[in-house]
Formats: sequence, C-alpha cells, structure tokens
Amino acid sequence: MLVSQVPAFKEYWYPVAYSADVVQVPRPARVLGEDYVIWRGREGVVGAAVDECPHRGSRLSQGWIENGDLVCGYHGWAFAPSGACTRIPQNDPDAPIPPRARALSVLVEERYGLVWICPGMPRESVPELPEADDPQFTLIHELMEVWRASAPRVIDNALDVSHLAWTHRNTIGDSSNPRMNNLKVERVGQVLRSRVSYISRLTPEQRRNTGLSGDFTTRVTNSELVQPFVFRDVMEYENGLRHVLFKTATPVDDTHTLFCQFVARNDNPDEDKVAGIVALDRKIQSEDKELLEQIRPEFPLEMQTEMHTRTDRMTVEYRRILAELASESSLVPPDRTWSRPFVDAARASVKTATNPREQG
Ligand code: FES
Ligand SMILES: [Fe+2]
Repeated sequence: MLVSQVPAFKEYWYPVAYSADVVQVPRPARVLGEDYVIWRGREGVVGAAVDECPHRGSRLSQGWIENGDLVCGYHGWAFAPSGACTRIPQNDPDAPIPPRARALSVLVEERYGLVWICPGMPRESVPELPEADDPQFTLIHELMEVWRASAPRVIDNALDVSHLAWTHRNTIGDSSNPRMNNLKVERVGQVLRSRVSYISRLTPEQRRNTGLSGDFTTRVTNSELVQPFVFRDVMEYENGLRHVLFKTATPVDDTHTLFCQFVARNDNPDEDKVAGIVALDRKIQSEDKELLEQIRPEFPLEMQTEMHTRTDRMTVEYRRILAELASESSLVPPDRTWSRPFVDAARASVKTATNPREQG
C-alpha cells in the first residue's frame, strides 16, 4: 500500500508547520501529494488553501500578504483566510466580486504550537494530546523535518518497542537485554495502546536528562496510536519522571514524510536540560531515520507478506487498522504486486525440496 491509494487518509489532521513560522508570508505545504498554501492573515488568523489561484492557476504561495489578505503575485487578486476573494484590481472597485472567485480553502487549526490542516472532511478532531496542553508539563519541540520514508513506516517504527535494543544500541538501547516484559496490547476502535517495561541504557547524557544514576534503568512505556499517523508515548521512569513523546508523520507523498517530534516533561527542565533532552532525542531519531529511509515505502497490509513474532503484536494490529481504512476503496493492489519475490521463491524451493520427482 502507498498512502496515495487510501482516500481515507485525507480525512485526518496533519501538522504542516510550527505556528511561530506561519507569519505574514505565504508558505507552501505538501500533504498526500497536493500542494497547499498557508498564511497568517487578518487578526492573526491562519488560512490554508489549495496552492492554486482560481483565476489563472498561479501558485498563491508565490504571493504576499497585504492588509492582512493573501495577494496572488500574477494579477493581484486578494484572498481572506476563509478563501473569499476581497479584491480583483482590474475590475471597477464597485463591481461585486463573483462568489466563485474563491481560493479553495481547507480546514486549518493551531494546537500545541503547530499548524494542522485536514485536506478532506475530518473523521475526528485534531488529536487530543493531554500532556501537551497540561500546565504541569513543559512542552518542548524537538524536530520537524522531511524524511525520505513513507508515513506508515515512520509510525510503524514508533509503535515497535522491540527495535530499541538494536537500532538504539549506541544511545538508549541494550542489545544484551532485548526481551520485553509483560507486553500488553489493547485496541479500542482505531486507537491502539500498549504497555511494556524493558531495560534502557543510561549514558552520561541520559543520566543528566533523567536525574537517574547507574548504567541501566527499567523503563515503562505506554504507547498509543492516537490517529493513523499520530503517536503518543508516556515513558515512566523509576524516579517519577514522565517523558511524554509525541510523533506525527504527515504524508507529504508516497515516499516522503514530514516528521515532527515534541515532548512534554513533568520535571520543569531549565534551558540547559532542555538542550540536553533535545540533543539526545535528535540523535535517537537520526538512528531511526537512517534505517527507515532505506526501507521500501510500500506498507504491507496482508499478514503473510512478512513474518511476525510475539513482540510484534502492536505493529500487527497497526497493519489491521490501516488495512481496514484501505478496504474502504478498491485502489490498493495486493501486496504481491510489490513485495519481494523471495517469498514466492522460498515457497517454490520448499515445494521442490519436498517433491524430488519435480526435480527431474
Ligand atoms: S492567477 Fe492569480 S490573480 Fe491571476
Ligand atoms: Fe526508534
């Protein structure tokens, strides 16, 4: 499955920029292969629209803001955040503006310091991320960058606790302790939750970030798939520290993702500590990025395409959820159209080995 083959994905919310970066300058954003323009207009209201002027198709993101309206750089038509055209400079100033002269606006909201858009009719509200709004927690934005990986692969990696011991063996993982303790997985509708404890390495940086001592700690992680491309993880440390991790994967197109990560902490960290937390989390993410950018963007939806272990229960369930959304249309081809031919080759060799007469 490629994200462009699942129309249902248009019906969720995706972050496209930091609120602080959406100023009185139009900026482009790409979601699910469509180009949008985002801008801050009158009274600070954020607008978002398809990045194509209704007059002659110019890119609105090439325009500018004037008197709080988005001005198209081609013939100067101006648009309010609602998409309504407020000026056609070539017309008589008293002439009414035709109602069809609208920029095609899309839904946009600001939350958690991010600008979210929904390209279609939303099935849900902007994801509820309690700690990101909670005054008891400090919200820290860590990174927002485009990865050459597909969005389902990015979230699959977030839901997969069993990779920590290996992928992150040089930071927080301990490859001599790869086993998961008491992995519990539950699914309610399209929300997935898991709880598991495991041994995590305490490097000097991590000792500073957590206030713990020693070389290892047992960490409990409570993961949640909030929406198909939004992940939340409440990490509990032995000393009461809560490091709540949020990851969003905005599908830019089939092969690129705008990855955003932010955390909420209950230890009121000072500036130095925040810098240390961000530095380590960025290092950990670069370990994921390096692997994910080499994994094919197609995402398997059939259970036989891959092999699964007991610790893969969360990511197996993720495949089921995406398969359900994919089954709402008939656009997704069977996995065998793209999956590696070694699956068929392995089946063929088993058949040959068990039937000597076929070997001639
Ligand atoms: S193309 Fe935008 S005003 Fe003409
Ligand atoms: Fe990871």
